[in-house]
Amino acid sequence: MDTMQGLKRTKYCGDFTVADIGKQAVACGWVQNVRDKGMLVFIVLRDRTGVLQLAFDDQSEAALREKAQSVHSEYVLMAQGVIRRRESVNPKLPTGELELYVSDLRILAAAQTPPFEINDRINVKEELRLRYRYLDLRRAEMQRNLMLRHQIVKVAHDYFDQNGFLEIETPNLIRSTPEGARDYLVPSRVNPGCFYALPQSPQLYKQLLMLSGYDRYMQIARCFRDEDLRADRQPEFTQIDVEMSFVDEEDVMTVNEGFIKRVFQEVLRIDIPTPFLRMPYQQAMERFGSDKPDTRFGLELCDLSDLLGECSFAPFQSALATGSVRAINVKGAAAQLTRKKIDKLAEFVKTYRAKGLAYTRLNGAEETSSFEKFLTEQEKQAVRERLGAQAGDVLLLVADANHQVVFDSLGALRCELAQQLDLLPKGVFHFLWVTEFPLFEYSEEEQRYVAKHHPFTHPALADLEKLESDPGSCHARAYDMVLNGCEVGGGSIRINTLELQERMFRALGLEQEVVQERFGFLLDAFRYGAPPHGGMAYGLDRLVMLMLELGSIRDVIAFPKVQTASELMTRCPAPVDQKSLQELSIRLELPQTEN
Ligand code: AMO
Repeated sequence: MDTMQGLKRTKYCGDFTVADIGKQAVACGWVQNVRDKGMLVFIVLRDRTGVLQLAFDDQSEAALREKAQSVHSEYVLMAQGVIRRRESVNPKLPTGELELYVSDLRILAAAQTPPFEINDRINVKEELRLRYRYLDLRRAEMQRNLMLRHQIVKVAHDYFDQNGFLEIETPNLIRSTPEGARDYLVPSRVNPGCFYALPQSPQLYKQLLMLSGYDRYMQIARCFRDEDLRADRQPEFTQIDVEMSFVDEEDVMTVNEGFIKRVFQEVLRIDIPTPFLRMPYQQAMERFGSDKPDTRFGLELCDLSDLLGECSFAPFQSALATGSVRAINVKGAAAQLTRKKIDKLAEFVKTYRAKGLAYTRLNGAEETSSFEKFLTEQEKQAVRERLGAQAGDVLLLVADANHQVVFDSLGALRCELAQQLDLLPKGVFHFLWVTEFPLFEYSEEEQRYVAKHHPFTHPALADLEKLESDPGSCHARAYDMVLNGCEVGGGSIRINTLELQERMFRALGLEQEVVQERFGFLLDAFRYGAPPHGGMAYGLDRLVMLMLELGSIRDVIAFPKVQTASELMTRCPAPVDQKSLQELSIRLELPQTEN
């Protein structure tokens, strides 16, 4: 194999321009492809900036030309020569007018034929891509994704620094405080039987930093949550974490709107109008069936409950005792939404626990409806009028005794319809804040109220009196930042007094002893003067994914995990040897597996 000795790269492949024509140059990279035409040999060389053509011809020394003919895809090369104008220009490539006419070619490493071709049009299973992630990461698309991620992080550092924020690191081996997702645990060798937890977020540490007077803090923080994976979730992910003292909701929102404006401007050259729309949680649910509404398209929900109280259609009747009947008018979709498609949509809403999907198709003379025959003429007209129904429309209704089921199923249905009907424009970014969240939600599993955000969130000032007497009706001083139907960030104004934090723990049904054991340090700290404070955290991976308009968070993480929380390349998690377990005083009791 050759060495680099005597040569130094002059530029990255993609950085050469017509200004370099006639100049001596050295380029290095991986072989994208070789075109061997006998006396003419072309090699396309690739690095993270792009590609450059290397050329050899009948004027080249025979040995040099033969060497060029011997290379294959993914070989690592270094080439010296002169940049010249190409005979046949490739207008699709930034360097399409140029080539490096080579006088010295070094083969720095040979390569096996990769398990898939390294280009962006590949059509291979993601599993294979992840097994050979180091090859997948050679693709221009993945390199663009990770370079954009870098730019976003850089803007975050710059912006928050220029606005007086200090980056302070918080520990990754911390005390387990189970609330929210499950913790990842790390055994301590020197304290047998004791475990650290990996942080789900730096929440308590950043609050303590406010108490210590650091005022404006930020951190690009790695977080770990043992929860079920989805397309926008990873067990290990990164937050841009922010906290500020002596602030209210508006202060936090304004600083963060400024960050979004700046990052979109610098990275995508797109102007995001500020301030963002603020939408109370209840309105988001009623209009969009979701606390992270996608406002890029209409298909809003419409409550029909008050019109159908007397109707004889049994599913509506049983729903209305405690729940609601709501609908979406899919304007002008009668031709597209055939009976068959509506049946499929009915199956779709069942995955959100809906019992069925009632419909009316207003397709001219052949109007069909699954429920109108049970309605009086008056009821039918009232429903159509409320929905602004016209010829060509399709009305889709869900009824359920549980409001949440109606919201969840119609909320998901409108997004599904937007996909199917192609209503999602490219390059459009709709931001909003969802505010006035409920402070608690009732957990059927635990048979108690749990915090909707986390137990350090300040209750709405107007609800302080009701914390114990009527927790279900209390609101939080919390806000989520939503982009195109995805929660990119969330935060709140925090509790900063001992008295209120203790009341909050009591409202959550936590025993005094448990509170002392888990959160004693926080309560102690509050005795020493905590300023009013608040902040938020962005899911960095989600922000990058949405800015790049990608469907999976895995495409913006260099080495992501899959559904089973494993990483396919290094094959972790993996068993460890007995000696390591003994050192940690751990004995395994594995569940029986059937085979
Ligand atoms: P929260 O739990 O809402 O708040 O998290 C903040 C943001 O982090 C992102 N996120 C995730 N991204 C990828 N994979 C996951 N598993 C995952 N879980 C969350 C989301 C979310 O909006 N300490 C608070 C913030 C605060 O109150 O300041 C917190 O962690 O985009």
